[in-house]
Amino acid sequence: MVKPVTQFACAECGAIHKKWTGRCDGCGAWNSIQEEVPLSSGPSKKSLGTAKGRRMALTSLDAQEAPPPRTESGIAELDRVFGGGLVPASATLVGGDPGIGKSTLLLQAAAAFAAKDAKVIYVSGEEATAQVRMRAQRLGLAGSAVKLAAETNLRDVLTTLEAEKPDLAIIDSVQTMWADTVDSAPGSVSQVRAVAHELTSFAKRFGTAIVLVGHVTKEGQIAGPRVVEHMVDTVLYFEGERGHQFRILRSVKNRFGPADEIGVFEMTGAGLQEVANPSEMFLGERDRPAPGSVVFAGIEGTRPLLVEIQALVAPSQLSQPRRAVVGWDGGRLAMILAVLEARTGVTFAGLDVYLNVAGGIRVGEPAADLAVACALLSAREDAALPEGTVVFGELSLSGRMRPVSQAETRLKEAAKLGFTAALAPEGCKTGDAGGMTLRLVPDLTTVVGEVFGAA
Ligand SMILES: Nc1ncnc2c1ncn2[C@@H]1O[C@H](COP(=O)(O)OP(=O)(O)OP(=O)(O)O)[C@@H](O)[C@H]1O
Ligand SMILES: [Mg+2]
Ligand SMILES: [Zn+2]
Repeated sequence: MVKPVTQFACAECGAIHKKWTGRCDGCGAWNSIQEEVPLSSGPSKKSLGTAKGRRMALTSLDAQEAPPPRTESGIAELDRVFGGGLVPASATLVGGDPGIGKSTLLLQAAAAFAAKDAKVIYVSGEEATAQVRMRAQRLGLAGSAVKLAAETNLRDVLTTLEAEKPDLAIIDSVQTMWADTVDSAPGSVSQVRAVAHELTSFAKRFGTAIVLVGHVTKEGQIAGPRVVEHMVDTVLYFEGERGHQFRILRSVKNRFGPADEIGVFEMTGAGLQEVANPSEMFLGERDRPAPGSVVFAGIEGTRPLLVEIQALVAPSQLSQPRRAVVGWDGGRLAMILAVLEARTGVTFAGLDVYLNVAGGIRVGEPAADLAVACALLSAREDAALPEGTVVFGELSLSGRMRPVSQAETRLKEAAKLGFTAALAPEGCKTGDAGGMTLRLVPDLTTVVGEVFGAA
């Protein structure tokens, strides 16, 4: 008998290591490596090249096939993120921090699909059926036709699904399911991979749409959703800041639609409510233009989204002044500060810098560069931008502005929300500006000199 060789897998990224290390070479995470028994005990001696397999049927690219039929839930924010509805025979991963509202979202989605005559099964591996029922009652979904089970044994789950052949099966969560073919604890990298693999191939064979819930884990004991991202068709993340009621469902991968699409929800006592006009919500708490506050006209997925970017600059007591960022990339902030200093001479040396995207949303677009630079300058000079102004534009290392895409969409959204002027890069295809006054700037020096009157 061959002794199974142990290996070490990273719970963050799934990278396999020969021996234990404190830090993963693959993703740089600390303490994320754990010992695992591999799926098969070593490679088979027989080379695949010489073994006789079944001959595949080859086909051409131009075969006429109808696009996959989609089922819409009727929750517009959800359907958009799915790329226009749920695709049969697909596997979707919904990742998110513990307690963010994944079970709530998926129970509401399950009920919405069931209301459209889809056969839906919800398998909870984390909560007893009574707990899920209580949640359903609180959400006003007790009358829904969703079928419910509390189970962690994957074999039983698959047998049930095979007998029931639902249109949609929700598995909450992939980390609690347990495949008896794998010799390691639930939640380990090999278990999570085996569970995802079995459920994904089930989806392909039986035409069921499978949705897997995955917890984003902070410590390395339990494998995170990233280790199965490559196996599924669609990867969605449910995000939000603690203390904020806003929740964002974001598609980071979608084989059936555009990625980077977002759906915006608000968490209330009665569950998640759709937010049809997120710009309005993210700007909700604003009153008068204040120094350090700038409205960025962004695009999230296919939709324009206005968000407030806030900066605070204060004399530092530290030899290394603080640079703190919430909702934006810290490296990008360092770059903007460096460009400001090198190209315009405005220095932030000796000053603590805090940058915050209001409302708990994360902005990833480089088009936010100019808005961030303006927020920083505005905070430093203690001068607000003129009332009713939105800002967008990408910054190059030379200090020149780069035009960004969809300027017209950004301007129209701003006009719709009562803004009257925009600060944007020269060369933007602004087309119909929706009645907005445009101030097009070639570079950061112009912004510093003409907009803020500093040098
Ligand atoms: N009675 C209630 N009234 C209002 N909001 C509630 C109530 N109960 C729960 N919530 C909200 O629901 C959130 C938890 O939702 P849910 O259980 O769907 O999250 P989850 O991501 O599935 O969490 P877990 O990691 O435990 O699986 C809580 O953080 C809270 O905001
Ligand atoms: Mg849950
Ligand atoms: Zn790793």
